[in-house]
Amino acid sequence: MEKKDVVLENVTKKFGDFVAVDDISFSVKRGEFFSLLGPSGCGKTTTLRMLAGLEKPTKGKIYIGEEDVSEVAPFERPCNLFFQNVALFPHMNVSENIAFGLEMKKLPKSEIEKRVKELLDVVGLPGFEKRRTKELSGGQVQRIGIARALARRPRVLLLDEPLGPLDLKLREEMMIELKRIQKVVGTTFVYVTHDQGEAITMSDEIAAMKEGRIIQIGSTEELYNKPRTAFVAEFIGRSNLIRGRYREGKVNLNNLNKSIITGPHKVADNDYVAVCIKPERISIGEDIANLDNVFEAVIEEVYFRGAQINYKVLMEGNYKISILEHYKGKIFEQGKKLKIGWEKEDVHLSET
Ligand SMILES: Nc1ncnc2c1ncn2[C@@H]1O[C@H](COP(=O)(O)OP(=O)(O)OP(=O)(O)O)[C@@H](O)[C@H]1O
Ligand SMILES: [Mg+2]
Repeated sequence: MEKKDVVLENVTKKFGDFVAVDDISFSVKRGEFFSLLGPSGCGKTTTLRMLAGLEKPTKGKIYIGEEDVSEVAPFERPCNLFFQNVALFPHMNVSENIAFGLEMKKLPKSEIEKRVKELLDVVGLPGFEKRRTKELSGGQVQRIGIARALARRPRVLLLDEPLGPLDLKLREEMMIELKRIQKVVGTTFVYVTHDQGEAITMSDEIAAMKEGRIIQIGSTEELYNKPRTAFVAEFIGRSNLIRGRYREGKVNLNNLNKSIITGPHKVADNDYVAVCIKPERISIGEDIANLDNVFEAVIEEVYFRGAQINYKVLMEGNYKISILEHYKGKIFEQGKKLKIGWEKEDVHLSET
């Protein structure tokens, strides 16, 4: 059995009558990068605060490193919470900032110095010991914050939208950095974000949350390719969704007297479903008649992105469809009437 560093069993959190977290269960393996992903207000921070011991669950059990932590005070839990806005102590230099928690623990001076040096290497800022905090860039502050959070070697690091305040370029850089740091130190990360790009880039596993509940847990690939519900499909990777009713390997569409051939699926006949098709799986052109599914369409918008072109088309039945194509030297223009199509193997069915 793989070791579990975090286990939540049927955890609920109410604020008065309001249910912020509704009967959630999940576990995080040792050394895993696990993300809670969901829109604003879905209960991510509340879940993290319960793990940190800053909120008490109304119901359910929480284990960290196999220990039931319900009676364990926040500062005694083997985890550390990393907030969005890193507040470094302004009157201390970098080394003193990182060492702060270690001084509190009364570690020997030589051990502290060794750890600070190791941590600065890990976060890619070797030799920054004596640097003053106001002489750091935004990205450097973030890295020092991570070093400080890891200094006491927590079993689990809890991160609440840590890249939120950074601009896009820095955020993309820090995503790669965070993943690298996590791999080097081997600490279990529980990462909270509403940004699917961050979750997909870094996570081993993702729990997709909505209105206090977990809708689906799985690897990034599972959530991307096999979203359980339309919500997950829309949230992760922006699928095209076409709703209809399944019957014998076909979905009869709501808006159009035609069906989409899906092949056999584990769905009961006459169930309402959302047909999910990824933008990169759809062909567009004048001559694509040999695909399982072919529909008439008109191009509404064209976005040229260098290696890729993104078409927004209006398909017959009034369905708005997004298509991503590799640029091979040809672009269709706005207003052009043509055909779009896809194979039945490229169809996934989700709950509506
Ligand atoms: N102390 C509190 N008292 C009452 N309601 C609260 C409290 N803390 C959070 N909530 C409510 O619980 C819900 C979940 O909040 P939470 O902060 O966990 O959301 P979140 O997923 O982190 O959202 P965001 O992405 O905006 O940070 C929200 O509706 C919020 O208003
Ligand atoms: Mg939050």
